[in-house]
Amino acid sequence: MKILLAGGAGYIGSLLIPKLLEHGYEVGVIDLLWFGNHLPKEVKVIEKDLFDCQQADFEGYDQVIFLAGLSNDPMAEFSPAMNFISNGAQPSYLAYIAKLAGVKRFIYGSSCSVYGYTVNELYDEGSPVTCGYPYGISKLQGERGVIQMQDDNFSVIALRQGTVCGYSPRIRFDLIVNTMYKSCMVNGKVTVNNASIWRPLLDIRDATNAYLRAIQADQSISGVFNVASDNYTVGQVGDMVKDQVEALTGQKIAIEIKNIQDFRNYKVTWKKAKTVLGYEPKYTVSDIIADVHKHRDEYGDFEDDSYYNIRTFKKLKV
Ligand SMILES: NC(=O)c1ccc[n+]([C@@H]2O[C@H](COP(=O)([O-])OP(=O)(O)OC[C@H]3O[C@@H](n4cnc5c(N)ncnc54)[C@H](O)[C@@H]3O)[C@@H](O)[C@H]2O)c1
Repeated sequence: MKILLAGGAGYIGSLLIPKLLEHGYEVGVIDLLWFGNHLPKEVKVIEKDLFDCQQADFEGYDQVIFLAGLSNDPMAEFSPAMNFISNGAQPSYLAYIAKLAGVKRFIYGSSCSVYGYTVNELYDEGSPVTCGYPYGISKLQGERGVIQMQDDNFSVIALRQGTVCGYSPRIRFDLIVNTMYKSCMVNGKVTVNNASIWRPLLDIRDATNAYLRAIQADQSISGVFNVASDNYTVGQVGDMVKDQVEALTGQKIAIEIKNIQDFRNYKVTWKKAKTVLGYEPKYTVSDIIADVHKHRDEYGDFEDDSYYNIRTFKKLKV
């Protein structure tokens, strides 16, 4: 089976692609390489803006996975117009040309950030989506745009991912657990911005398993699926990171609790993904830290701009 990864050279794609190769899939990548290319050498990477793609670029592929766009709140807020175009319109356009090209399935990397600020209820895919900030709204638009193209010959699966964390060859230190780890290593302390806020977290290895389950699902399956490893309060995450870094390094880590207002607060159930796709998470916050720490010699300067999407994005002047 041939799979095209749109935005496949990013954080998730750089761990997902080696896994797909391991499973015998043929892969192709179209990406602007904003964060470089950390993919295995044998992968065919076309450096190209996805907006410039036509039907012919997608011909011969069985499935397309969308991992592009602006992938966090700071980027979306820095460039709201580009955010709405890249996260809202772009996936719809790509699903449209994929369908014309005879692709059988389109998998959209969506986000639990569509849920917004919720009050202590476990949200499923039928729960209200109340986000009022650019990133969440645009991810929801992208999701709705692609889902409505689904029919008997064109399956569409949207994975609403929790905040992804852990090691990838294209590492990011702007994602909650990874940021806390970096802060322990650089400043000897964990900063908790708001201890009571809930977040579903997704170990990047669980994320790659979710994509694999979506790829392998029966052709009749389409729909929106929450995927997370577990739900935690930010306070819980801070304590777990502190304990694990102390255990791994023998260094004492301080903890700083702030009371910064957050506009996102949600916890989700992934029961539908388990029942329909066979997705089962395996990893905890301690596992994430252990994995990121295992690769510590690769990072060099933790403050390198390429580890922070917003810093790289501002320099790109796109
Ligand atoms: N990382 C997370 O915590 C998380 C959580 C929920 C959802 N998501 C979604 O999953 C997807 C992948 O996330 P990630 O962390 O791997 O993102 P990333 O920012 O690391 O990678 C995005 C990739 O897309 C490419 N790209 C962007 N616009 C492009 C264009 N017009 N043409 C060609 N290439 C383009 C970039 O060069 C980059 O390699 C995103 O759509 C994101 O919104 C991510």
